[in-house]
Amino acid sequence: MSVQNTSIPLTTNDHLVRWVEKIAELTKPDAIHWVDGSREEYDMLCAQMVESGTFTKLNQKLWPGCFYARSDPSDVARVEDRTFICSLSKDSAGPTNNWVDPYEMRRKLKGLFDGAMRGRTMYVLAFSMGPVGGPMSRIGVQLTDSPYVVVNTRIMARIGLPVFREIDKDEGRVVPCVHSVGAPLVPGQKDVPWPCNSEKYIVHFPETREIWSYGSGYGGNALLGKKCFALRIASNIARDEGWMAEHMLILGVEDPKGEKTYVAAAFPSACGKTNFAMLIPPKGFEGWKIWTVGDDIAWIKPGKDGVLHAINPEAGFFGVAPGTSAATNPNAMETLSRNTIFTNVALTPEGGVWWEGMTEEPPAECLDWQGKKWTPQSAKETGAKAAHPNARFTAPASQCPTIDPHWEDPNGVPISAIIFGGRREKTIPLVYQAFNWSSGVYIGATMGSEMTAAATGTVGKVRRDPMAMLPFCGYHMGDYFRHWLKMPRSLSATPRIFHVNWFRKGADGKFIWPGYRENMRVLKWIVERARVRAPGAETPIGWMPRYEDIEWKGLKFPKEKFEELQAFDRTAWQREVMDHEELFIRLHDHLPPEMIYERELLICRL
Ligand code: GTP
Ligand code: SPV
Ligand code: MN
Repeated sequence: MSVQNTSIPLTTNDHLVRWVEKIAELTKPDAIHWVDGSREEYDMLCAQMVESGTFTKLNQKLWPGCFYARSDPSDVARVEDRTFICSLSKDSAGPTNNWVDPYEMRRKLKGLFDGAMRGRTMYVLAFSMGPVGGPMSRIGVQLTDSPYVVVNTRIMARIGLPVFREIDKDEGRVVPCVHSVGAPLVPGQKDVPWPCNSEKYIVHFPETREIWSYGSGYGGNALLGKKCFALRIASNIARDEGWMAEHMLILGVEDPKGEKTYVAAAFPSACGKTNFAMLIPPKGFEGWKIWTVGDDIAWIKPGKDGVLHAINPEAGFFGVAPGTSAATNPNAMETLSRNTIFTNVALTPEGGVWWEGMTEEPPAECLDWQGKKWTPQSAKETGAKAAHPNARFTAPASQCPTIDPHWEDPNGVPISAIIFGGRREKTIPLVYQAFNWSSGVYIGATMGSEMTAAATGTVGKVRRDPMAMLPFCGYHMGDYFRHWLKMPRSLSATPRIFHVNWFRKGADGKFIWPGYRENMRVLKWIVERARVRAPGAETPIGWMPRYEDIEWKGLKFPKEKFEELQAFDRTAWQREVMDHEELFIRLHDHLPPEMIYERELLICRL
């Protein structure tokens, strides 16, 4: 079925209209649809995808407004080895990015996109990252042949007419994004539920601020406003303009007196940002409240007041489903209870969804993320998961019960603390505070984390993931550290910097720390340290809370266990520092000297 032709341009910007025509000439779609962003259009596209088999409408009594999608089994996560930063010089992309000469890449893309949209509709999807018209917001236009991308982006960003109106004002630049699933149809050919191509290219041109994505329909590969724009391209813009585009959640901590402290936290993919951003304080924290501003990306800018201010450029959550439950994250469960798109979770016989960890008791049977019958019994025998470990929900942020009243403030919220964190079975304590900004930048720069299912690769392997930005920094990592080190020059107060690790394991192989809402105990110490109100003990790696510095009301957690969590193992840290050196050698010709000095100081303290 072809979309009703709405191909009258929704903009008066000739430049944009000509670009759309040019890309249509190259990709040769059957129709062009200018996306107005209305509810009616959303409903129409969803209905069309139900008809084509991409979507299953869930039981509307149980899951109102919700749809279910199964991706192709080969298209389930970001593809870091197929992600390219095509800067003019290889040196500006740095050794942590894949680089291809931009001329060569353009030639390649021209071939790939030639006729790539045949038999499909090309959607002209205008989106604003950040509230429309806000001083920190930026606009992109994505041309895509994926209606799945259009409906997901309607949840994840502000789209359609209001954005075209902003473009018509003709101020500022628009980031052009071209996306195709790379599966053209010949006349009469029946489409598959999840079209994609085994050849994938996620390409960024930092100098011209352009994005081209080919072959995938999934998440960060295809929703180009998210990782491609809001992190890889935006990190380039931010460096040039003196602000920061970071892989960070933003939350506000309100204490019983009503005083609010905002913090931003960078944890790698699938390491707990969404959970932390939506935390509900545990027993013993009556009167405390956490407010959610964002769960994945923060754009942070020095304000006129000399303080860093952050906005969440997104409008929805593209969250990891497995492990999300009423016990671990009731706010997320409430947020995704309606108007949500589920991808690669399991489908129950009642027309509901399920995933590992959602309930203690699994359903007696369901269809797994590949559409095969799954039972708890068969799972025991084969170990097969009902939901893919990187199964996701796409849910509107406005539905989050703890959404912060200032979450759409175009000027952002003031940031008092920055938290880095990784997934580390060993060595790294539950929490410590950097001595100062530059030692904090060192901590972020040398962050390590075990790899997760969010990207294709070896799950569990520890890798250096500086500031959780290894897959997302759109230029040389050494220059990125330098940019961080320069930030205080435009500030009168810098946020305090911390490192956390919820994932340390004991000799029994189990997590020592209960995590989730109990993380509030750590967060309280952090905000009080940021306000210079809490004591801490000096250690070789930074300031640490002693047992008595943590609020334990409502939780029985013995001192010995806390000491196991905070234990500082000199030999393990010496090995850790060797790993830091390995990263630094790779980055050496762009590494700021401060990083070397910080490393020397750390070695001296060890
Ligand atoms: P991305 O969306 O990929 O950027 O991930 P994220 O950083 O938002 O991670 P998320 O909050 O979705 O958590 C990922 C996984 O870690 C889920 O399976 C969670 O259940 C689990 N997790 C989150 N917080 C904790 C915690 O405090 N302790 C433990 N043990 N697991 C946690
Ligand atoms: C991540 O991998 O960090 C995500 C999911 O937030 S995706 O949008 O697919 O990148
Ligand atoms: Mn993420």
